[in-house]
Amino acid sequence: MRGRAGRRRDRRRGRHRPGDGRRGPVSTTEPREKAEQRTTDLGLPELPAAPYPAEVRERLDPDAAEIIARYPQSRSALLPLLHLVQAEEGFVSRTGIRYCAEQLGLTTAEVTAVATFYTMYRRRPAGEYHVGVCTNTLCAVLGGDQIFAELQDHLGIGNNETTEDGQISLEHIECNAACDYAPVVMVNWEFFDNQTPESARELVDQLRAGTDVAPTRGARLCSFRETARILAGFPDERPGAVDESGAGGAPSLAGLRLARGETLPGTGGTHIVAPRQEDSRETEDVREAEDARTAEDAQQAGAEQDGTGTEGDEA
Ligand code: FES
Repeated sequence: MRGRAGRRRDRRRGRHRPGDGRRGPVSTTEPREKAEQRTTDLGLPELPAAPYPAEVRERLDPDAAEIIARYPQSRSALLPLLHLVQAEEGFVSRTGIRYCAEQLGLTTAEVTAVATFYTMYRRRPAGEYHVGVCTNTLCAVLGGDQIFAELQDHLGIGNNETTEDGQISLEHIECNAACDYAPVVMVNWEFFDNQTPESARELVDQLRAGTDVAPTRGARLCSFRETARILAGFPDERPGAVDESGAGGAPSLAGLRLARGETLPGTGGTHIVAPRQEDSRETEDVREAEDARTAEDAQQAGAEQDGTGTEGDEA
């Protein structure tokens, strides 16, 4: 026998099998959550991760198939599939990673690399409400840093930690493209704009007390798992929720109005407000000029094909 004395060769060419290792085989009756936490003597997670139980797979498989069918290449479905498993458990577990890998023909290392790259995927069980405080530049200088510091004190938890009652997870997040409403706090990815330390404290207290809170804009708040399912690309089935999403608010459109030469409401500015019809006239002129250019190009191309183009054109 080749190899080090006393060591038996793995007959499956070194591939890891369920039950490999000193702790004995993973019992099929062991709860999955417990199996998920099993570690080797080095403190590393034991491989492979436990699979989802049959009843979970029965529920997930048709959804996964629907997601995968949206893409020409199955591996492109990884991001929504990770949201799907996050909707199942509230975070992306090792079992969830194994599930995605099996569905897409990827390795668990490839799936893990993606799941750990994007911060929207949580790798640990977390609270019902994911409270994200933007501490990126604009929000930070307008009070985001202060809000985050005060929420940590108020809740008694640090970044990426969860309150003991399992209600709130706190995270400082990067810019959420809502700088025009800075400083912003997000709950389960819905916006709470123009926050202060006081309003943010009140917000988390209401969430913990089970009081209904409404985001400043957008649809009603739903649980983190429901949000994850919507992010996986499934419709928001709450009546009226889609219509509540609304359009861009006044601060978001301020730049556009200024670019058009319009005054901002309530500013008492002296800019000339560009009349709407003038805008559409301009758009029409541009469109007509483009159409004329396209027709000219087509004519030119036809002439060249027929060999009737002018010498100057050929040059
Ligand atoms: S800096 Fe906070 S949303 Fe952009």
